[in-house]
Amino acid sequence: MTNKQIQKLKAPKFIQQIESTLKPLEFLDRCAKNYGDIFFTNSFGDLETLVVSHPQDIQELFNPVNKILDAPGTANEIFKPHLGENSIMMQDGERHQKQRRLVMPPFHGEQMLSYGRQICEITQQVMQHLKPGETFIARDLCEEITMTIILKVVFGIEQQARFQKLENLMTTWLSLTSSPLGATILLLPFLQKDLGAWSPWGKYRRLRQQIDEQLMAEILERRQKVQLNSRDVLSLLIQAGYDDGESMTNLELRDNLLTLLNAGHETTATSIAWALYWIYQQPEIYQKVLHELQGLDTPDPLKITQLPYLTAICQETLRIYPVSVFTFPRITLRSINLRGHHIASGTYVMPCIYLTHQREDLYPQPKKFQPERFINRKYSSYQFLPFGGGSRQCLGQVFALFEMKLILATILLNYQLKLEEVAPVAPTRRGFLISPQSGIKMSLERV
Ligand code: HEM
Repeated sequence: MTNKQIQKLKAPKFIQQIESTLKPLEFLDRCAKNYGDIFFTNSFGDLETLVVSHPQDIQELFNPVNKILDAPGTANEIFKPHLGENSIMMQDGERHQKQRRLVMPPFHGEQMLSYGRQICEITQQVMQHLKPGETFIARDLCEEITMTIILKVVFGIEQQARFQKLENLMTTWLSLTSSPLGATILLLPFLQKDLGAWSPWGKYRRLRQQIDEQLMAEILERRQKVQLNSRDVLSLLIQAGYDDGESMTNLELRDNLLTLLNAGHETTATSIAWALYWIYQQPEIYQKVLHELQGLDTPDPLKITQLPYLTAICQETLRIYPVSVFTFPRITLRSINLRGHHIASGTYVMPCIYLTHQREDLYPQPKKFQPERFINRKYSSYQFLPFGGGSRQCLGQVFALFEMKLILATILLNYQLKLEEVAPVAPTRRGFLISPQSGIKMSLERV
């Protein structure tokens, strides 16, 4: 049997890079239309990459039994200036698995219950700053909530002055790359030139240095006075040891705190802002979810997270515009065959979350927000994969969904909001993520 040909994008590399940076979803929709669900692109750095979006291919690749893929840290080089060389995302092989075994437990199990109450309290504290009638940008508000959650619940920072300083530094640092144009310094490495404190890269690096100093000060202080009953993730990481008795170095702790902050705060905040948009855009969805929440005898965090319609809203939000369009890059360890296409050993592969979620055969009318599809049908982890899969699957996925549901429930049960958007809100690039263009304008109703 002859192998089917995999097409390569015809546009020059430079054009592919510019288009995928500035108009990522339009670029991908066009690729799918012209080249189908498996094609080669040059839009990521210098390497030619295979993009796949057929669930059968994703299953074949991610199935651990097949041992087809490696997830080398070098394939994530693009994140290195952002996260540091000791970040879990830069590790591979045994070192990567060891770090995952250490970082994973604090985000699961009984710890989550104590985090639940803190998440609801922080949401209330931030929401209380809003005045009746005030207009606000939902994404900014949600970022304030999720940043506070990471700094207080995950890092356990109690000192108000340090919390404030880190929050200000992080907000300024992340804002440098939040527009599609600003994101070019992260995505196009040739622009990473430090031409002094006022040059874009110079400013970016200096702020990163200050953040590092603050994080290191916190780590050193906490090592001195770690308390056995502390439940925050940093305390648990300081106390935990690798299987061989070794523990995380200060530099590993620092880069991984920054990784958790980067990977965990904007992703979740953007997803919650989208969820608010969809809920308030369709009154029947708002009524249905409110009815479900009000049906609870007590707004207990565990009960909230088990509500089927609220869960379906979060799933549909993560389906329609997944904040992360791709998984991290993988590389094939041997030659394989995907539905008649021959793939050579050593090929870079990126499963495309967005294109899988836009498949008409899985999700009829994919551009429509319909939470019911998740009630009426069960999707496999190769058909619905907002958190990626395989050996690098998102470490914070349980925590992220937990946060999304609790923040949404706290807002819906206690505040009356109004969507202030007249036209449909388009998705756009924001740093490495896909985010609502306007940030979602809303207001707090006068009652
Ligand atoms: C809605 C929120 C989130 C989304 C959509 C999301 C999505 C993703 C995706 C797509 C990946 C790559 C997976 C792959 O390559 O297969 C990833 C990795 C990762 N995420 Fe998340 N994430 C979210 C929230 C979080 C949170 C809250 C945390 C932690 C506080 C977190 C920590 C991480 C880490 C550490 C990795 C790298 C794992 C590794 O290299 O082994 N994420 N996430």
